[in-house]
Amino acid sequence: MRSPSSAFSSREKSFADNEIIVSKTDLRGIITYVNDVFVRVSGYSERRLIGAPHNIIRHPAMPRCVFKLLWDTLHEEKEIFAYVLNLARDGYGYWVFAHVTPSYDLQGQLVGYHSNRRVPYPDALPRVKELYSTLLAEEAKYPNHRDAAEAGFNLMLELLASQKVDYDQFVFSLSRHTRLESSTL
Ligand SMILES: Cc1cc2nc3c(=O)[nH]c(=O)nc-3n(C[C@H](O)[C@H](O)[C@H](O)COP(=O)(O)O)c2cc1C
Repeated sequence: MRSPSSAFSSREKSFADNEIIVSKTDLRGIITYVNDVFVRVSGYSERRLIGAPHNIIRHPAMPRCVFKLLWDTLHEEKEIFAYVLNLARDGYGYWVFAHVTPSYDLQGQLVGYHSNRRVPYPDALPRVKELYSTLLAEEAKYPNHRDAAEAGFNLMLELLASQKVDYDQFVFSLSRHTRLESSTL
């Protein structure tokens, strides 16, 4: 029998605890900046990344509804913390704990988005993988991407509500630590 997390179990790599993967995008999610850690871990050159849509590193095992939540939240000009599995050029996946925020110019105009990512604590990942596998299976029932994202999103809300949490609370309940807290120590 396939375990719930089997979609995520193979060909994964990681990066160092003290590293931060940084990127910035315009309002449509086109990459405008990457740091050297992003370049190294993703395996793409800076030249290839700048100007590319951020889904260049999208992993097929990521549920669509997580990105719907990300974009819905950003369109409300709010920050979001999310667990994301990315796909490097060499075919390896790498899990990140991402903090994505709106960016403003000096006039206070929204100009794009900014993301910092750290390595998740390993104790957080089993529950993330379990939730995402369930959402992925639900989304696989719908050939249309938009319908899939909608169905996954509704299921995610339902599953989290049954645990009396929203996604944000879920994310911060997963580990005794969080990478963001540890970065300020
Ligand atoms: C600042 C920012 C950072 C993002 N970082 C990632 C990322 O690390 N991995 C990823 O797959 N999508 C990331 N996205 C979301 C992508 O833009 C896209 O919605 C996602 O890859 C899903 O692509 P798809 O709609 O083609 O399935 C980011 C978006 C923004 C605005």
